Amino acid sequence: MVFYFSGTGNSKYIANRIRDEIGCGLLSINDLLKKDLVYCNANDDLLIFSVPTYAWRIPRVVEDWIRRSEFKKGAKAYFIMNCGGEIGNAEKYVRKLCNDCSLELMGCGEIVMPENYLAMFSTPTPEQGKKIIARAEPVIDSIIDAIKNGDTLPSHKASLTGKAMSSIVNVLFYPLCVSAKKFTADDKCISCGKCVNECPLNNVALKDGKPVWGKECTHCMACISICPKTAVEYGKNSVNRPKYRCPY
Ligand SMILES: Cc1cc2nc3c(=O)[nH]c(=O)nc-3n(C[C@H](O)[C@H](O)[C@H](O)COP(=O)(O)O)c2cc1C
Ligand code: SF4
Ligand code: SF4
Repeated sequence: MVFYFSGTGNSKYIANRIRDEIGCGLLSINDLLKKDLVYCNANDDLLIFSVPTYAWRIPRVVEDWIRRSEFKKGAKAYFIMNCGGEIGNAEKYVRKLCNDCSLELMGCGEIVMPENYLAMFSTPTPEQGKKIIARAEPVIDSIIDAIKNGDTLPSHKASLTGKAMSSIVNVLFYPLCVSAKKFTADDKCISCGKCVNECPLNNVALKDGKPVWGKECTHCMACISICPKTAVEYGKNSVNRPKYRCPY
């Protein structure tokens, strides 16, 4: 089974690529979170998680969801992390997660995909995004080959900076940076409700036809990237930046 969590489509794209080649099932953690559902199935021998990198680890909502779900004891688990730059020391924490959940870690892959973190960083135009994805294709292929052959993925040796980013910076990131307070929708909003539907945490609602944001945000950037009218901004940080979304 391939599971994915995806704010702007990169992880979903990779999950689809893997599913098409391996020929197994595909489940959206976004959809399951939205319905407040976990996964309880003791039949899968192979688990593949395609997820973005949030503060140099897998997203906290995904880790919590995996801990609340029930998988076959001893199942082989591949974590395919994609990122705008690097995953730091994420593997260490994925290993602990697997130990705690009685899963056999088969590796933690790193795939550089287009940056989507509009709240903090510059994001690529669609043309730049396509070029970055083209460069990622051989990496995706090599990961698919390893999964097909039952091989483990090469281990990452994190730098000192990577270790700091995945530990203290990750811990500080959530309370200091992750909040929906700066999201706004301007007059271009046509009340279509796409931002509401796209939020995996049901954190957006329409009030008098305009979106309002609650307190359950994980900064996945789905609401800002899905808006057909580019009406959503995140304070001044996102203004004049492409609202990146995977083109495939
Ligand atoms: C909240 C948040 C935190 C992020 N942190 C990192 C990071 O620590 N390192 C990195 O290389 N990219 C980081 N990114 C970039 C995403 O991991 C990357 O763009 C990913 O491909 C997005 O996948 P998606 O389209 O499936 O959501 C972050 C993005 C978001 C939204
Ligand atoms: S997606 Fe954009 S246009 Fe649609 S309701 Fe949300 S803000 Fe308005
Ligand atoms: S409010 Fe927007 S950024 Fe926050 S979790 Fe929902 S879709 Fe993601």
